[in-house]
Amino acid sequence: MPQQVRGVIARKKGAPVELTDIVIPDPGPGEVVVDIAACGVCHTDLTYREGGINDEFPFLLGHEAAGIVESVGPGVDSVEVGDFVVLNWRAVCGQCRACKRGRPHLCFSTFNASQKMTLTDGTELSPALGIGAFAEKTLVHAGQCTKVDSTADPAVVGLLGCGVMAGLGAAVNTGNVGRDDTVAVIGCGGVGDAAIMGASLVGARKIIAIDRDDKKLEWAKQLGATHTVNAAQADSVEAVQELTDGFGADVVIDAVGRPETWKQAFYARDLAGTVVLVGVPTPDMKLEMPLLDFFSHGGALKSSWYGDCLPERDFPTLVDLYLQGRLPLEKFVTERITIDDVEKAFDTMHGGNVLRSVVVL
Ligand SMILES: NC(=O)c1ccc[n+]([C@@H]2O[C@H](COP(=O)([O-])OP(=O)(O)OC[C@H]3O[C@@H](n4cnc5c(N)ncnc54)[C@H](O)[C@@H]3O)[C@@H](O)[C@H]2O)c1
Ligand SMILES: [Zn+2]
Ligand SMILES: [Zn+2]
Repeated sequence: MPQQVRGVIARKKGAPVELTDIVIPDPGPGEVVVDIAACGVCHTDLTYREGGINDEFPFLLGHEAAGIVESVGPGVDSVEVGDFVVLNWRAVCGQCRACKRGRPHLCFSTFNASQKMTLTDGTELSPALGIGAFAEKTLVHAGQCTKVDSTADPAVVGLLGCGVMAGLGAAVNTGNVGRDDTVAVIGCGGVGDAAIMGASLVGARKIIAIDRDDKKLEWAKQLGATHTVNAAQADSVEAVQELTDGFGADVVIDAVGRPETWKQAFYARDLAGTVVLVGVPTPDMKLEMPLLDFFSHGGALKSSWYGDCLPERDFPTLVDLYLQGRLPLEKFVTERITIDDVEKAFDTMHGGNVLRSVVVL
């Protein structure tokens, strides 16, 4: 029997979100219904609401979530009813060219549920990133459910489902940060701080946090930054060079995603170092630079989608590290809110007052 539950939708571009009744079909082949325990508020949810992703309104928002598998459809054997799972937006297909070449983190045919969740009048919903977890329950593909240690706090580990994984992976997977590396991170929101935490985890020697907001720099220190630079008061490039004996950092991560921050990342980098772009630019942004600089500086210029993660490989390990007290994931949860307060959480996010607000159901 299809179930009726409450969920947060964005009905039309720019309008405040609404808590309303939605209909969840029984899981079909390869599908799973998950009872959502917690879901973080990510900038991308706001981007959906503002029409910045596409025009497929109404959206069912929310995508950084953890919960319990409530029911499974035919043919599902990767998870069972009662499993505690973190949801992901990279259920790799195993069949596309990227997967077959052994690069599943670049899979361009990832799985989502085939059936649609709807409003009570039958209007089909577009779930954010194929998840839609600001809801009591949601329907996803089985591959979007990664089983993790059930003793973990869902409000904390659900954040691995998007921003924290994107930032940590930008450092560890894409930037390949290792022991003895010097690292600089521009933009210390949830994503940048996760990159800092990742760099710290793998033993980077120096981790320079750069932001315009002193409060953010304070949080960055708690997550492993060894040095901080207030970009509103100092020249970020010069500051990084000074802190790295004039060389520049081995890896610089741009967690803002603007032409000026990317340029800073490029010039704050050691000659043979790596730039990682994880902040998402908007379509109007352009970059103009001397081509010769690209040539003469060498090194690697990379972008990072979802931290080049593989959920099945990365989530369980990171949850274990968190439970062992070796990964301070709990520091990303600034506040816990109810499902009625998503719109308010967008305002709080705009004001720069949180790393993450997390809806607890
Ligand atoms: N690549 C991915 O897969 C992926 C996944 C999730 C989020 N993101 C993107 O990562 C970016 C960061 O997300 P977030 O949740 O951390 O956002 P956020 O708004 O919480 O953090 C951004 C931080 O950058 C700082 N900042 C802004 N302009 C700056 C500048 N010129 N110099 C220095 N600091 C500056 C702000 O003060 C803020 O602390 C966003 O663009 C988001 O869309 C990417
Ligand atoms: Zn694939
Ligand atoms: Zn997100």
